[in-house]
Amino acid sequence: MTEEKSDQESKKESEDNAKDSASNAEETATAEKADSDKQESDKQESDKQESGEASAQPTRAKASRTQEKYLSRNFDIPKAYNIDVYEANGGYRALKKAFDMDGETIIEEVKKSNLRGRGGAGFPCGIKWSFLPKESDVPKYLVVNADEGEPGTFKDRYLMELDPHRHLEGCIIAAWALGIRYCYIFVRGELQFAIDRLQNAIDQAYEKGYLGEKIMGRDFDFDVYVHPGAGAYICGEETGLIEGLEGKSGQPRMKPPFPAVVGVFQAPTIVNNVETISAIPFIVEHGGQWFADMGIEKNGGPKLYGLSGPINNPGVYEAPSGITVRELLESDRFGGGMRDGHELKAFIPGGSSCAVVKPEHLDVQLGFEPMQEIGSSLGTGCLTFMDTNTCMVRLTARLAHFYHHESCGQCTPCREGSGWAAKVLDSIEAGRGRMEDLELLLDMCDNIQGNTICALGDSIAIPVRSYIQTFTDEFEQHIKERGCPFPAWSKAEPHSDSDAA
Ligand SMILES: Cc1cc2nc3c(=O)[nH]c(=O)nc-3n(C[C@H](O)[C@H](O)[C@H](O)COP(=O)(O)O)c2cc1C
Ligand code: SF4
Repeated sequence: MTEEKSDQESKKESEDNAKDSASNAEETATAEKADSDKQESDKQESDKQESGEASAQPTRAKASRTQEKYLSRNFDIPKAYNIDVYEANGGYRALKKAFDMDGETIIEEVKKSNLRGRGGAGFPCGIKWSFLPKESDVPKYLVVNADEGEPGTFKDRYLMELDPHRHLEGCIIAAWALGIRYCYIFVRGELQFAIDRLQNAIDQAYEKGYLGEKIMGRDFDFDVYVHPGAGAYICGEETGLIEGLEGKSGQPRMKPPFPAVVGVFQAPTIVNNVETISAIPFIVEHGGQWFADMGIEKNGGPKLYGLSGPINNPGVYEAPSGITVRELLESDRFGGGMRDGHELKAFIPGGSSCAVVKPEHLDVQLGFEPMQEIGSSLGTGCLTFMDTNTCMVRLTARLAHFYHHESCGQCTPCREGSGWAAKVLDSIEAGRGRMEDLELLLDMCDNIQGNTICALGDSIAIPVRSYIQTFTDEFEQHIKERGCPFPAWSKAEPHSDSDAA
């Protein structure tokens, strides 16, 4: 994208932007009004429920109240990645509010918000923050995990590319609340555009005095650096990432000690995902309870969901925590349903390391506990839908190859098990499988899971086991028929009965 323009074009563009900013500022005010109206109506609703009065919309009321956008509010605003436009639309307002609050109060609000880590593990953010020692002889660090390498996951890049100042504002608030001196944003190396946008935002924030020394006249110094990764998926694991930041190869560390106690450069460190940090300004601005109320029990706030597969509207969408998979898939506001001629066979809720789920669970809410109850996980909340043309054996083999390739090699079960599983799966797909191979694969999964330094081992075992157990018939069919009953990927579209024959 070129930024060079004639004077006239630039003038016109800045006029347009000013108009956009004004109308967006108006929109923000309207959104806030709508928001407070909603809060009032929710309060009336909950008063009704407490008094036993019949409720018009019992459980969906909270979730559907937020057609409002927060995390993605600036995505459609032209040049919101520039500080002037960001500020004109309410940017850095939460930071100013945070400066009037003490760290403990901010941490309490984050705890109250039920913000769960958006990087996949779902650890409660406020609780993690409270583990960081208050006093430290060495500077404390914030490390933002922007490695975004999980197959099927592509939400953080939107936040970095389209709304980098929101993210920086979140970093500065976190640093203020936790007494942190330095921040590294570790960005997946392939995301050069995100790296450029973040760096541009950082430069602007220094110029405006939001970063650097004595920020906004406070006794508070904070510096932020962008650090591009070198291409290893394992550097998304927080301790592998820390090793990478220190200039070593990204081999995860044993935990404990956890990074909050011994992190980067042996110093106390908070590692948080991009989306987790980008949510912080909203919690400070509107309060922890407001954020919690937008979701379901233990899962607060709005969230970005990525939708991919043979659906009508793949992309990134904002919706409340606890929205059902069906609503995300079928609503025209979101996925718009499966494409013509494609029938849903299964989905994975949040990246390839989650267990696969059948369509009978489409009405389950997207939260960590509801997803655990059906044997899967919310993960990153980026859903991949698969149609009936998808060969589950080929897919499982593909995943095993991916994890084998990305294994850092420190643990025998992960290093050897992933490659062995990939070979056995290849042989089943190629028609050389034996029935006992299925037991063998399940046995491998049992021996990998829980027996490794980091959770990459589990990320192999969980999906491999789940595909075999959920689609046993299909694995057996490959073995009995001595080959794959599905068309080759190159011929897999469009779906027709004769294709599958
Ligand atoms: C193999 C592996 C890869 C991971 N990749 C990412 C990633 O790309 N981005 C991310 O935010 N978290 C990733 N995680 C999770 C991080 O280890 C960590 O839980 C997260 O960054 C914490 O931030 P949060 O609490 O805000 O989610 C990965 C974990 C594992 C085991
Ligand atoms: S589980 Fe795999 S990726 Fe993780 S430390 Fe062990 S060998 Fe490395």
